[in-house]
Amino acid sequence: MGNPNILDDVFEKFVNCAKLFKDREVLRHDYLPEKLPHREDQIRVLGQAVAPVLKDARCSNIFLYGKTGTGKTAVAKFVLSHLESKAKEYGAPVKFCYVNCRMTGSEYRVFASLSQSLGLSIPFTGLSVGEVFDRFRNGLDASRTIFIVVLDEIDALIKDRGDGILYELTRINEALHKSKVSIIGISNDLRLKEFLDPRVFSSLSEEEMVFRPYDASELRNILLERSKLSFYDGCLSEPALSICSALAAAEHGDARRALDLLRVAGEVAERNGSPLITEEHVRDAEKHIEHNKVVEALKNLTLHSKLVLLSVYHLNKASGTNATTGEIYDVYNELCGELGVSLLTQRRLGTLINELDVMGLLNSKVVSMGRYGRTKKIRLEISRTLIQDVFGSDERLSRMIKYEPKLLSKNTHNRH
Ligand SMILES: Nc1ncnc2c1ncn2[C@@H]1O[C@H](COP(=O)(O)OP(=O)(O)OP(=O)(O)O)[C@@H](O)[C@H]1O
Ligand SMILES: [Mg+2]
Repeated sequence: MGNPNILDDVFEKFVNCAKLFKDREVLRHDYLPEKLPHREDQIRVLGQAVAPVLKDARCSNIFLYGKTGTGKTAVAKFVLSHLESKAKEYGAPVKFCYVNCRMTGSEYRVFASLSQSLGLSIPFTGLSVGEVFDRFRNGLDASRTIFIVVLDEIDALIKDRGDGILYELTRINEALHKSKVSIIGISNDLRLKEFLDPRVFSSLSEEEMVFRPYDASELRNILLERSKLSFYDGCLSEPALSICSALAAAEHGDARRALDLLRVAGEVAERNGSPLITEEHVRDAEKHIEHNKVVEALKNLTLHSKLVLLSVYHLNKASGTNATTGEIYDVYNELCGELGVSLLTQRRLGTLINELDVMGLLNSKVVSMGRYGRTKKIRLEISRTLIQDVFGSDERLSRMIKYEPKLLSKNTHNRH
């Protein structure tokens, strides 16, 4: 049988059995539902906080924070889209700009987006940040508006570049005569305060709203609403719905995680040609998502972290026991030599090991060696096969997987 026949079969199965999804888009992260169950209080409080702009007054700067997937972005967009239509209805001179700081990237581009939303044209590059800011401020003042700026994932901007941009923005009203600016800042990093100048923080959080995690029954309601839009009636089993909510609640009450589980479970069921999404499909989805997360994490490591991981891989393969930092450093040293890259210090390597531990790729624990004191023992938290699969597609690293460290073969000989 030729290859086209295989595909005929795949496509046919898909077309004939794909009766699960009514609308896949509804489960995407950026889909904004018309109802946000369990966020009524936050919607009301944010609504009250921004309402003054309908009467020509500036509203307070507001800071929203809470863990990931707790509905901050959804609530902010929901309230602002309603405010926008009300402002049009009343003819209030209000303008809005939503910026995701992580995706936008730099201060330059944040100000460029703000300027563009006012109809100012800013070249893609070529000006200094100060010049873009001046153009923004002058253009804004001339536009005679109340401008609401939403800076989502604001931590991305601050951790990379400090809080200069926020300092300028929080003080901009002093320099404006005909326009006013209010800022809605959003962050899922609760330690953000530590990164900010206290003056900037207090002016950003004239009002503060905390989004607590959802519990399992709240997640269940959220998923139920969403599933009515995304799946045909009767395609989602009760146990599947409950297990999606329970799994996401056990992690930290993350609605995005719950929606991902539901979407992937639907895809698994679809691939199996099943007319019903079952608990087992959700379990499969969980493994699938977890696997993809680890693969992504592995791919995105820096070269030296990859080499550290490979060193543990070789030690594990050679002896099967846990390795010490010293042993890892020796193998790492050899791999660096083979690749012709310069070594990091053993101290820096210790930091990388800790990072890999936090990411769940390595596990290090301190063990007592009796009167010889204590030492750290490190082992792989993921399978060797996974490392082979992911690093195998990189030419340099695949060579290092096959490479047999001289140090280890010598040790093996000594032991025999
Ligand atoms: N109360 C809710 N009702 C319906 N859907 C919700 C609710 N809360 C969150 N969601 C959905 O869950 C997903 C994650 O929510 P959202 O993007 O608002 O999280 P977030 O708090 O901004 O997270 P992060 O800090 O990671 O940006 C989105 O798809 C959103 O539509
Ligand atoms: Mg968000």
